Amino acid sequence: MNKQAVQEAEFAPRLVSWQRQHGRHGLPWQCREPYKVWLSEIMLQQTQVSTVLDYYPRFLAAFPDVRALAAADEDKVLGLWQGLGYYSRARNLHKAARQVISEFSGNFPHSRVELQTLCGVGRSTAAAIAAFCFDARETILDGNVKRVLCRVFALDGDIANKAFEDQLWRKAEALLPLNAADMPVYIQGLMDLGATVCKRGKPLCCSCPMNDLCQAYAQNRIAELPRKKKAVSVKNLSLYWLVLRNCDGAIFLHKRPAKGIWGGLWCVPCADSLDDLYQLAAKFGCTAEDLTESIEFTHRLTHRQLHILPFAAQINTGQDAVSSAITGEWVSSDNLNTYGIPKPLYDYLNVKQSSLF
Ligand code: ADE
Repeated sequence: MNKQAVQEAEFAPRLVSWQRQHGRHGLPWQCREPYKVWLSEIMLQQTQVSTVLDYYPRFLAAFPDVRALAAADEDKVLGLWQGLGYYSRARNLHKAARQVISEFSGNFPHSRVELQTLCGVGRSTAAAIAAFCFDARETILDGNVKRVLCRVFALDGDIANKAFEDQLWRKAEALLPLNAADMPVYIQGLMDLGATVCKRGKPLCCSCPMNDLCQAYAQNRIAELPRKKKAVSVKNLSLYWLVLRNCDGAIFLHKRPAKGIWGGLWCVPCADSLDDLYQLAAKFGCTAEDLTESIEFTHRLTHRQLHILPFAAQINTGQDAVSSAITGEWVSSDNLNTYGIPKPLYDYLNVKQSSLF
């Protein structure tokens, strides 16, 4: 065997024994039940373990199995996702639960390829479920794993490039353990190594089980690999919020359309310009003098920097007329946390609760 083949053959046995000794154990989703594993993998896609540890048990208590989730109302699902962000994950989760019922008679499929047909489940997530629950010899390839592979094998390419990504998938597949029974530990090991040792900044190379195999380490190129992605271009967008309260202190919210920013979430009426905001306010019988301007604040989405300027107004009469202007609901502060509300609105209302009017 040449040096490269020896290095590849060493990778899985080392990772498996390292995970057993030094990896993360006792996480609530480390089990063989596809529903629980799938839920955790979706939550963990853009959210830290510490945050998921808080949301995961509450979600499971409300929806203990795929049947309960499929039968739920979308707003209840979004309500439990409240604060986790990236709400398309919650909408897809709900759709996928219904797919499991209608297309797979309520049982998750076992193969990576079939799992990938579920809404919101990409190749890497499908592989994690198949490996954790059914010992499938399938590899994951998330950002952490890409970093590990680029370093251990000194792979120098543009992570955003499709051909380079394909090369990484092939490398990751070539490394899989021969014994399928090792798959759950191996996949957990890949996740753990990237998250706890082979970190982006200040990696702990001295504690790494791959230290003497690692080509980037040998070439003193750890800081250089993987090549940095080009920064995403971020657009600035102004949003004007109409924060209406009625005489009971309830806030007017409407459900946003499924497509676009905060799709399907409940939000105060929004406008893109001050003119549009005044027109919107007029529909509720408010003039410019009735509106109190708050301090502008910013909120970052993946590709957009929002500049949010809330205008508050008290509505004393005509609630029936109001609800026919825009379909929505008056929500009391006590009930706010049962609605799926964009994080910046939730934060704004909590902070402003006592000082708004
Ligand atoms: N990130 C993604 N999946 C994970 C898992 N199963 N355990 C810990 N972190 C993860």
